[in-house]
Amino acid sequence: MKKQQSKLLVGNWKMHGRLASNAVLLHTLVQRAATLGPQVQLAVCVPYPYLAQAQTSLENTPIDYGVQDVSAYMHGAYTGEVSAPMVAEFGATLAIVGHSERRIFHSESSELVAVKAQRALEAGITPIICVGETLDERRAGQTDNVVYTQLSAVLNVLEKADVARLIIAYEPFWAIGTGRIPTAQQMQKVYTVIRTQLMAEVNVHVPLLYGGSLKPSNAQELFSQSEIDGALIGAASLSAIDFLAIAKAASTVLSENLDYFK
Ligand code: PGA
Repeated sequence: MKKQQSKLLVGNWKMHGRLASNAVLLHTLVQRAATLGPQVQLAVCVPYPYLAQAQTSLENTPIDYGVQDVSAYMHGAYTGEVSAPMVAEFGATLAIVGHSERRIFHSESSELVAVKAQRALEAGITPIICVGETLDERRAGQTDNVVYTQLSAVLNVLEKADVARLIIAYEPFWAIGTGRIPTAQQMQKVYTVIRTQLMAEVNVHVPLLYGGSLKPSNAQELFSQSEIDGALIGAASLSAIDFLAIAKAASTVLSENLDYFK
C-alpha cells in the first residue's frame, strides 16, 4: 500500500449556484489552482444543469469536475434520472454516490448505492462513495457497524479491480452543515474500520476523504491527520476565498510533512 502524498479537495455544490456566480467562482479557482502546487487537486461536483458550464470552464485546466449522483440505470423510462454515460459525455470524471442527503431524504439503500457506483465505473467515472452515521446511531454506539455495513454493500458487488478505483468519503450526517466535527480520536477509529475493510479487499491505497463542516479555521488541524487524503466540502466550496483557503491549508500541511521527512 502506497500512501499518497497529496490531498484531493472536492467541492459539493449541492443545490446551489447560478450561471453568473458559478462563472466567477470557477474562473477564480482556475486562476488560483496553479499556486497551490501539484499535490493539491481541486474538483467540483455541480448540479446537472451546470455540467456544460463546468466543462467549458474547467476542461484543459488542472481542476476536475463531476456530479452529485448518477442513476442506477444506463438508460430507459426513468423520469428525472440522469445516467452515468450522459454525465461522461460532458467530460465529468467524478460522481458523488450515496451522500447522506440522498440516503436519508431519498431513502437510498446501500445496495442501491453499490449499483450506482457500478454504473459510474462502467462509464469511466470515479465514484466518491459517502458513508457515515447519524447522531442517533453514534449515540447508540453503532458508528463502526453502520460504516462497515454501508461499505460492505459496495465491496460485495464490485470486482477487486474496481474497488481500487474508488474514493471513499467519511461524512457523519451530524457533522454536515452543523459546524460540528468529529474529534481526531473519533475519526481515527472510523478510518481504521474503513482502511482495514478496504485492505482486506485490495492492496492499494484507496483515498479516504472527510466531509462535514470543513472550513478554513479547522482545515489545517483536520488535514494534519495522516489518514485523511482530502475532503468533500459543502458550504465552504461555494466561496472561492474559503475553498482556496482550505486548499492552502492542505498545501501547508503537505509541505510541513515533506520538511519533516527531509
Ligand atoms: P458541509 O457539507 O461542508 O456544508 O458540512 C459537506 C457535504 O455534505 O458534503
